[in-house]
Amino acid sequence: MVGAPAGPVDKRKGHKMEMRCCGQSGIGISLYGIGAWSFGGGEDDYWGAQEQSEVERIVHAALDLGVNYFDTAELYNDGRSEESLGKALRARRDEAVIGTKILPQNCSREGVREHCEASLRRLGTDCVDIYMVHWPLHDHPTPAAFEALMQLQEEGKIRAIGVSNFDGARLREALDTGAEIAVNQLHYSLFSRAIEYDALPACVEANVGVVGYMPLLQGILTGKYRTLEEVPWYRLRTRHFSGDRKGARHGGPGAEEEIVPALEGIHAVAEELGEPMSDVALAWVAGQPGVACVLAGARDVAQLEANVRGCGLKLSAEVIGRLNALTDPVKHRLGTDLDYWESPGNSRVR
Ligand SMILES: NC(=O)c1ccc[n+]([C@@H]2O[C@H](COP(=O)([O-])OP(=O)(O)OC[C@H]3O[C@@H](n4cnc5c(N)ncnc54)[C@H](OP(=O)(O)O)[C@@H]3O)[C@@H](O)[C@H]2O)c1
Repeated sequence: MVGAPAGPVDKRKGHKMEMRCCGQSGIGISLYGIGAWSFGGGEDDYWGAQEQSEVERIVHAALDLGVNYFDTAELYNDGRSEESLGKALRARRDEAVIGTKILPQNCSREGVREHCEASLRRLGTDCVDIYMVHWPLHDHPTPAAFEALMQLQEEGKIRAIGVSNFDGARLREALDTGAEIAVNQLHYSLFSRAIEYDALPACVEANVGVVGYMPLLQGILTGKYRTLEEVPWYRLRTRHFSGDRKGARHGGPGAEEEIVPALEGIHAVAEELGEPMSDVALAWVAGQPGVACVLAGARDVAQLEANVRGCGLKLSAEVIGRLNALTDPVKHRLGTDLDYWESPGNSRVR
């Protein structure tokens, strides 16, 4: 693995942020969306401390750059991500599209209402633009949950219904309830291509926009780590890496043997193009059919600007083909399961 310093931020400055449609919802979202998981975080949270003043700078700079999609969840920092985002957007709420998510265990008929109203309070708004079910339902029946969501939509508390981490079968089950599904938020990166087997084609067929999350594999695809040993342990817990690593719960072999040379290859392609590796990683996701939005976290304005720039980069079909060939061994090794955190036996998707 070789380090790739961030390139000049203003290279594609002045380009207009591309907007894409969320399925048939009529909601237009920016091709780059801000992942707000770190917002409202304290020392002990997954991403560590995130100052509110920095959040406000990121959110306002994003809106100024034409980024309108902001993604959070009731789960993130126990609701403090929603609070932090809501506070930052207070004066400019009308310019933003807010997506938030309800945990599947909260999706009883009554739970959907209760949890949506709690999210509205934390966000300081009277309507969530896209309200998503975070993972497929196991504890509650799908029809009742989606009927409750449609009721909230009728009441104007949510504008559109979305899902997250739903494979083709789960998506069709949700659509069969009569709900119009605007988006399916799915992990998609050069090293996380399981959605290509089934979920992505199912979304394209049903005209459901794909919001690709973790496109930088939590920083690993920016090239800022020279070896895997430099990566903070909590970013190595997915099935990409050995199940022996600290905090991993999947127990599998990982795909480190495939990932290390592929990272070298991606770095070489980026160098040849004269682009930072993070731009190439983001542009690859943005260039895939069916993708409505590339959702990456940004800890500061410099990362925001770099990510806006990356999503504006257009890769040729030839370069995309080379990147696919470089990462095919990782794709094949990791298989079809969309849950990158759990063992196949414990997958939350099936
Ligand atoms: N639906 C779901 O189940 C689900 C699951 C996970 C995430 N998500 C959503 O997806 C969003 C994005 O995922 P993520 O934040 O986990 O992963 P990510 O976007 O792949 O990585 C974000 C992290 O990478 C680093 N980074 C970002 N831009 C960079 C740049 N230009 N140069 C160098 N480093 C950069 C930052 O961390 P450092 O500066 O600390 O290195 C940042 O926090 C989340 O915020 C959340 O909204 C959804």
